[in-house]
Amino acid sequence: MAEQQRIVINGGKRLEGEIAVQGAKNSALPLLAATVLCSGETVLHNCPRLSDCDAACRILECIGCKCRREKNTVTADASVISGVEVPTELMREMRSSIIFLGSILARCKTCRLSFPGGCELGPRPIDFHLKALREMGAEIVERHGYLDCSAPKGLHGARIALSFSSVGATENIMLAASLAEGVTEIHNAAREPEIADLAEFINKCGGKVSGAGGSTVAIEGVEKLSPCEHRIIPDRIAAATYLCCGAISGGELILTGVDHADLRPVTAVLEQMGCSIYTYGKGHLFINTRKPLVSPGTIRTNVHPGFPTDAQPPLMALTSVASGTTVFVENIFENRFKHASELARLGAKISVEGKVAVVTGVKALSGAELISTDLRGGAALVTAGLAAEGTTRIGGLSHIDRGYENIEGVLRSVGADICRR
Ligand code: UD1
Repeated sequence: MAEQQRIVINGGKRLEGEIAVQGAKNSALPLLAATVLCSGETVLHNCPRLSDCDAACRILECIGCKCRREKNTVTADASVISGVEVPTELMREMRSSIIFLGSILARCKTCRLSFPGGCELGPRPIDFHLKALREMGAEIVERHGYLDCSAPKGLHGARIALSFSSVGATENIMLAASLAEGVTEIHNAAREPEIADLAEFINKCGGKVSGAGGSTVAIEGVEKLSPCEHRIIPDRIAAATYLCCGAISGGELILTGVDHADLRPVTAVLEQMGCSIYTYGKGHLFINTRKPLVSPGTIRTNVHPGFPTDAQPPLMALTSVASGTTVFVENIFENRFKHASELARLGAKISVEGKVAVVTGVKALSGAELISTDLRGGAALVTAGLAAEGTTRIGGLSHIDRGYENIEGVLRSVGADICRR
């Protein structure tokens, strides 16, 4: 249905008010996968209502878990696992479904997934995941687009050195290692906040993970994990998006339920552009943009605590109306500038060559018909639409719905003229 819908924005309204930031999609997905490790009923609070989370719940159901949602609390009962195969449609619906490999294999000693393939951001290889699991004793056969995985004698600990700090690979290894025999060490592990959240969850369930958040993570396997109750961390990318929305409207927003430290790589750039940002209380952040925005110079996306690649598209929308020239160097994904040509329809001046995009700030944008081609690119179009004169219509909403809980409702509640038709 989202395919026929459009977000319609009449730009130029100043945003003012308070936004309670949703739970982190990128934590929710590995945590939903982690529930497979616990034989019993796990409760996850602050689980955002997103199509990606629904897809993760459907994966749980298709292997025999019972999953129910009440508002933002998801209860997953993995007392019985009756299947080990994830159908192709579900694997295609959500590329990060590969995260289920580690937990299903650890719990059931066998697993069949179809290859997730490429995605909107370019090729999405899973070689680090497969290499690491093989080092832990898994036999993985890749044929006819399927991954047939087994570890008849169970997985064992290993010393794994990642050639790149992949978030998904680090998570998959942590999940697999939690029930493996012996100790697994991940060197050059990803340091994203979502990794620390997963470690906290596994430890609450009786697992033994140390070092998460640093570049070496150690996991001592345990015989069994018991279910627990856990609150998912705030979504730093949704927060970054709403900060860009506030800034582009010259407005004043309070975000609640955020983690200041996790947002620092983004807030530092916004301050450089002329926004005033204050943190106060427990998880409150205030942004005010009175001065004209100026370019932050060169933005290089990097692994945490570098500038997050997922915040690059909304920031690009913001820099399109900041005075001066901004250079974006995209170091994480090969094909992450698709939103640039859509922003150009609004009058943005952006030239792209390979992994570099050069944005020359313009005085004003004007509304147009746009198509969102990926999740964060879609968020960039919404951000820009808020500032564009006249009406902007955005299609391709299924992408945006993967990661933003009711984006139009949230923005309308702080004064945007935005609706879904
Ligand atoms: C996660 C996030 C995504 C974010 C990304 C980078 C989730 C659900 N998604 O994605 O929003 O943009 O981190 O912060 O948490 N790579 C390989 N081989 C592999 C694995 C990755 O070459 O086996 C490459 C990828 O192609 C990419 C880079 O490593 O160029 C980073 O990918 P990775 O950190 O694994 O991202 P995801 O976990 O897929």
